Amino acid sequence: MLRMNLKELVDRKPLPMPWSEGEKIPWNDPEFSARMLEHHLTQEHDMASRRLTIINKQCTWINKQTKPHSTILDLACGPGLYSQRLTQKGHKLTGIDFGPASIKHAKEQAKQKGLDIDYKLEDIRTADYGTDNDLVLFIYGEFNVFKTSDIKQILAKAYNSLTPGGKLIIEPNRYETIKNEGTNPPSWYTTQNGLFSPRPHICLTENFWYPTQNTATKRYIIIDAETGETTLHASSMIAYTRNDYTKLLKEAGFTDIEFHESLTGEETDQQKHLEVVVAHKK
Ligand SMILES: C[S@@+](CC[C@H](N)C(=O)[O-])C[C@H]1O[C@@H](n2cnc3c(N)ncnc32)[C@H](O)[C@@H]1O
Repeated sequence: MLRMNLKELVDRKPLPMPWSEGEKIPWNDPEFSARMLEHHLTQEHDMASRRLTIINKQCTWINKQTKPHSTILDLACGPGLYSQRLTQKGHKLTGIDFGPASIKHAKEQAKQKGLDIDYKLEDIRTADYGTDNDLVLFIYGEFNVFKTSDIKQILAKAYNSLTPGGKLIIEPNRYETIKNEGTNPPSWYTTQNGLFSPRPHICLTENFWYPTQNTATKRYIIIDAETGETTLHASSMIAYTRNDYTKLLKEAGFTDIEFHESLTGEETDQQKHLEVVVAHKK
């Protein structure tokens, strides 16, 4: 996050280099994470996590992708909506996320329901993925928000943590989704309280598309309505084609790479912006 005054805002760089003003929205900031938790849990939209009717259907499909009593690692597990349901289907789950409110909620839910789930408040770039996983999950679009060097490391760690015959399921954004995001015109809204601040503020957004890097950057500029204090958050996403996903996964050691239209296996449940890739460890 960058703090600036209004003059600095007006003088901002016309074209910021991807990642130069920040990596992603502040999922790991405790206050932001607490506000985001409400968006994960609401049944009114699918912004941070999907609604439970669809998650239940997706867990039925995920369950069919792995053997009974599997050991499963849920990367960027959020508040544990998938980990909890897959545990209830008889699997042994570990969930890793760096959002403090999400992991606290996930742990409380597991305790309340008497479920033995190992939730870790850690960054998936540095966390230990353990060994003997039958399945590693990395779902709901976060894949593209990592720099390629980080994603290569995440894929290598996932591969090393799997048993022979194990699988990785990722759910990245489609190439066109990210290109469209990057070419969207600027927009703004006002609110009494929102994700980026609990105080009345204006949020301005700007998008940039870098065709040679296949990367989109989004700026969120938050102006406090009472103090005028201005903060800037930025997030970048890399657009990959199916060939790029195949190449990245093969480089990490995976074979038999399959593409699916949705995480329920059904085309009618397709979320236009996402696709599902299943990769195997021989
Ligand atoms: C769109 S949410 C999806 C959460 C969950 N997979 C779901 O579908 O309910 C993305 C998640 O990625 C987590 N995340 C992003 N970067 C992370 C990192 N470097 N390490 C751990 N978690 C991360 C965020 O905290 C957030 O919970």
